Amino acid sequence: MSLQFHNLQVKELKRETAKTVSIGFQIPDNLKAEFQYEAGQYLTLKAMINGEDVRRSYSISSYGDEALQVSCKVVDGGKMSTFLVNELGLGDRVEVMPPMGNFTLKTVKHPLVLFAAGSGITPIFSILKKALKEGNSDIKLFYGNRSEDEIIFKAAIEALKVQFSDRLLVQHFLSSDGERLDAQRVQSLVSNLPESNYFICGPKGMIAAVKDGLEKSKVPASHINIEYFASPKTDKKAVETVASGEVNEIIAELDGERHSITLEPGETILDGTNRIGIDPPFSCQSGVCTTCKCKVLSGEVEMENNFGLGEDEAEEGFILSCISKPTSAGVVVSWDEV
Ligand code: FES
Repeated sequence: MSLQFHNLQVKELKRETAKTVSIGFQIPDNLKAEFQYEAGQYLTLKAMINGEDVRRSYSISSYGDEALQVSCKVVDGGKMSTFLVNELGLGDRVEVMPPMGNFTLKTVKHPLVLFAAGSGITPIFSILKKALKEGNSDIKLFYGNRSEDEIIFKAAIEALKVQFSDRLLVQHFLSSDGERLDAQRVQSLVSNLPESNYFICGPKGMIAAVKDGLEKSKVPASHINIEYFASPKTDKKAVETVASGEVNEIIAELDGERHSITLEPGETILDGTNRIGIDPPFSCQSGVCTTCKCKVLSGEVEMENNFGLGEDEAEEGFILSCISKPTSAGVVVSWDEV
């Protein structure tokens, strides 16, 4: 059974900064199990905005007993973020898909180093609360923003810093003061740290810089966890669709039914399934959020990039259908095997 949207009521709205709100949802008893989540996961929201079906994913910023909450910063021209930040009201209802995502804290054994920039703090904040509650002994949060008034969760982070002063170090970097999380700075921040797990979330330039700094510091790739908020388009590899013949004849399996689809030139597998109206889950449509994940049961498929899936998932045959095209005849994909 594929994931479905559920109509949830907004029960809390909190303005975190001039451009950011946190949105808490009322979860009815019959959906409580489905909306259980791990710190670091995200929700996909759907709304009709000016007649258009708009879907976007937002990271969960709550943890534990707190009401399920995502936080959203308005982006220039962003249809969903403008709607959520400027128009959504208490008691309104939003279509919400159950939690997804692999940017989660698998172990609390090791020291933890968290890098965030801007709204990238959202999943990091949830992970931070879990780590403090469940046992990481040594936690560092390095958080970059343009200016002090853009720091999201500022007061809450300060309160945690005071409460857990023996285990938590927080350092802010403000670009208005000339402070940046560049590779050199990252190298100096981690130079004397014991073996740690690293989590990074922010804009792609910041992620690239932090990753570069960690790699230069010889941090093993297996210790680095990354969450992209936007598609790193510059690294995309073009996949040519073979525009004719059997290669474009695919079969898509969803909710126990098999559908034959002839992809049009340039179409991704997700485009094709949406065109014939079978509506598998999706959100970002740019290979980041993993909502559109499905499994290749036969045939060959190539992705334009892979920033969302783990290596083990790719090896098991999972793909992101929004950026995947068939490269052989006989492709069968399934959302029922996810
Ligand atoms: S819809 Fe987000 S990765 Fe495909």
